[in-house]
Amino acid sequence: MSRSSFAPGKIILSGEYAVVFGHAGIAVPSSIGMEVIFEEDSNADQLEILWDGTYGGEPWLAYAEKIAGLCRKKRTKLRGRLMIHSGLPLGKGMGSSTALLIAMTRAVLGDDAREEALLMEDHLNPGHSGLDFAVIWEDTPLLFRKGMNPEPINLPPGMLRGGVLIDTGLPSEPTSELVAWMKEKLTAAGTRRPSSESLEALNIIARCSERLIAGDDLSTVMRDHHKAQVALGVVPEETQELIAAIERAGGAAKVIGAGSRTGGAGMVLALGADAEKLEAIAESRRMPFMQL
Ligand code: MEV
Repeated sequence: MSRSSFAPGKIILSGEYAVVFGHAGIAVPSSIGMEVIFEEDSNADQLEILWDGTYGGEPWLAYAEKIAGLCRKKRTKLRGRLMIHSGLPLGKGMGSSTALLIAMTRAVLGDDAREEALLMEDHLNPGHSGLDFAVIWEDTPLLFRKGMNPEPINLPPGMLRGGVLIDTGLPSEPTSELVAWMKEKLTAAGTRRPSSESLEALNIIARCSERLIAGDDLSTVMRDHHKAQVALGVVPEETQELIAAIERAGGAAKVIGAGSRTGGAGMVLALGADAEKLEAIAESRRMPFMQL
């Protein structure tokens, strides 16, 4: 038996961190993603995992092994070959770990294993809001609110046309660590009182989702969203400088995932200016980019 599956990555248009605290977020699936082919062979001694495409080395192979281990709870005899083709940048805010989990679960346990996949995500990515999981599983633009059924959302056609994704480098902290830090910083559970600046930043992000629902211009909303992400402390300086250059060129840009406190901020979505200009800005900083 051989079964293949595909899971896209995600691009968050608005809502990072705000969704963790119950506010609305909006995300769209990316055209690139993870493909998995599972060739079951009950005569094999074990499950061989082979990786092709963007390769993250030992840690990513170990992550795939962990997912396979969790799939074994449901399907004890998991033997044969599992081939992963990753078209996504890994660990850079496009939901690569969730896409891998979903593509593997679908290939191994089937398309109706949503609940099992979500339990695995809860285990491997503690504290997550569910936004990444929902948009990657559903593979459609979504309006998401924690604890509620995600709603498919109709965004203006061509909204992302001419957009570019710029790779600012690998974040120094994993998303689960950043989410835990943000919860500590912003809730009563924290040791210090949350700063009014951080609370206001969270509210601005929450309002960005409402503004997009109301039909506001994406570039205008993205500029405010980016400022709020900076205020939350998850956009390192080099990425702030990149986005400032994009804004000077008439465009808008934002980090599309958890970002980072130091190091790279993962992928940045840039649009609203001539694509060649955006690409030249990325190139001058030696940052790889791809068109949407
Ligand atoms: C990460 O892609 C988005 C965050 O809001 C975390 C989450 O929603 O789980 C930062």
